[in-house]
Amino acid sequence: MAFKKVWCALALGFLLPFSCAHTDFFTSIGHMTDLINTEKDLVVSLKDYIKAEESKLEQIKKWAEKLDQLTATATKDPEGFLGHPVNAFKLMKRLNTEWGELESLVLKDMSDGFISNMTIQRQFFPNDEDQTGAAKALLRLQDTYNLDTDTLSRGNLPGVKHKSFLTAEDCFELGKIAYTEADYYHTELWMEQALKQLDEGEVSSADKVYILDYLSYAVYQQGDLAKAMALTRRLLELDPEHQRANGNMKYFEYIMAKEKEANKSSTDSEEQEKETEVKKKDYLPERRKYEMLCRGEGLKMTPRRQKRLFCRYYDGNRNPRYILGPVKQEDEWDKPRIVRFLDIISDEEIETVKELAKPRLSRATVHDPETGKLTTAHYRVSKSAWLSGYESPVVSRINTRIQDLTGLDVSTAEELQVANYGVGGQYEPHFDFARKDEPDAFKELGTGNRIATWLFYMSDVSAGGATVFPEVGASVWPRKGTAVFWYNLFPSGEGDYSTRHAACPVLVGNKWVSNKWLHERGQEFRRPCTLSELE
Ligand code: OGA
Ligand code: FE2
Repeated sequence: MAFKKVWCALALGFLLPFSCAHTDFFTSIGHMTDLINTEKDLVVSLKDYIKAEESKLEQIKKWAEKLDQLTATATKDPEGFLGHPVNAFKLMKRLNTEWGELESLVLKDMSDGFISNMTIQRQFFPNDEDQTGAAKALLRLQDTYNLDTDTLSRGNLPGVKHKSFLTAEDCFELGKIAYTEADYYHTELWMEQALKQLDEGEVSSADKVYILDYLSYAVYQQGDLAKAMALTRRLLELDPEHQRANGNMKYFEYIMAKEKEANKSSTDSEEQEKETEVKKKDYLPERRKYEMLCRGEGLKMTPRRQKRLFCRYYDGNRNPRYILGPVKQEDEWDKPRIVRFLDIISDEEIETVKELAKPRLSRATVHDPETGKLTTAHYRVSKSAWLSGYESPVVSRINTRIQDLTGLDVSTAEELQVANYGVGGQYEPHFDFARKDEPDAFKELGTGNRIATWLFYMSDVSAGGATVFPEVGASVWPRKGTAVFWYNLFPSGEGDYSTRHAACPVLVGNKWVSNKWLHERGQEFRRPCTLSELE
């Protein structure tokens, strides 16, 4: 499986034209900023519409007031009033033409401009899939960063510049999305939050009866029958005629009675429960480690090992380009060896790379092992693009820099991949190299396996977004202008399984990276193999 994830990153390079027609806004901040501008334009056009409508209403009001006065005088003494020839003429004129004009004004549609603007912009709007995607991203962040529902709803996140909160209706919406995913755990959390906010007196169009309906079901699905009954009771207090709730209540009572009966006679279900718990625990370790590392709660390296991590000036092994101006290098980890280069890409270079990539960013895809088709996956949520050294001297210069500092031949490397992770964007634990059981992975390239990874951080990230290595417990935090480098293979060509790594979900802000995957061919004399397999 892990290989598949790796391979797709590569396949994307060739299959770009086939990748998704829809843009999947929520995966990348780059595209979402366009939406902000779209909304700004729409507000301007909406305000124009309001002005036009107000001025129309103003004219109508003036007419009504004028006529109000006039008819008041006229009705008091109709004959006297009409005795004045001008009044008689004006009455004719009003009724023959002016009322007609007013009628046209009342009928006049002032919304043309706004509506045609909406029609044009609507084709670029996010769709249901985007909304669901953004909601799921929130739920994922909630899990990874141990955020309690109330904190998330009140928008109390670390490092946010623009505070924002969720309404009871928003919470209800999130709960519903979790519900359609059969994710009853989050359904319960968010329906409860919606209810809480309503109980606290929030004014909302969200309806407690609906919320309780979902909530009690989610609670029941998770096996808390007593709580499900209490919630259903609460629903029935609000709406005693509610059909489903009445039905459920009867059903719950029936099950409750049956369970009591069963409890007396057998403990089978307890055993079953234990078994599923064991299964859950089997799955947890990597996920748990991954999430802990993402939160920066990694197990600390022993002081003894830590003392052996250094920083230095590095000249690329006496590379002529770096002898006079060596670069700063820090050890991030010892085994596998991960080093970080500081001030290794300038802000100007970063801007150029981002600008080149932006128009080409598309949702990173993976190969569906069942259908063989490219598809998107929750475990890889980002947008990426590939840049060739031919298209810009900046890209070419960057490639040369990687060659000089790693001592590895970049002519057999893949093109520079640029990736942008929006909020919730992530890449779950994977290997960058192809494993033994998937020998065809990089066959088309003919350059062997991915020997090493070079990863530039092209932005800081306000919260979240670390690169973590769950096998060994390393967290590498993004720092703009730096790059990390590690070998995926031992000199023997064997894969180093301790390099399994992940890109943690971005919690606040937005993450830009670019990476270069170096391949085996061309490195025969640059990194000769040793006699031992695991060295
Ligand atoms: C990758 C990867 C790490 C990161 O793209 O293969 O592991 O932090 N990225 O973006
Ligand atoms: Fe990777």
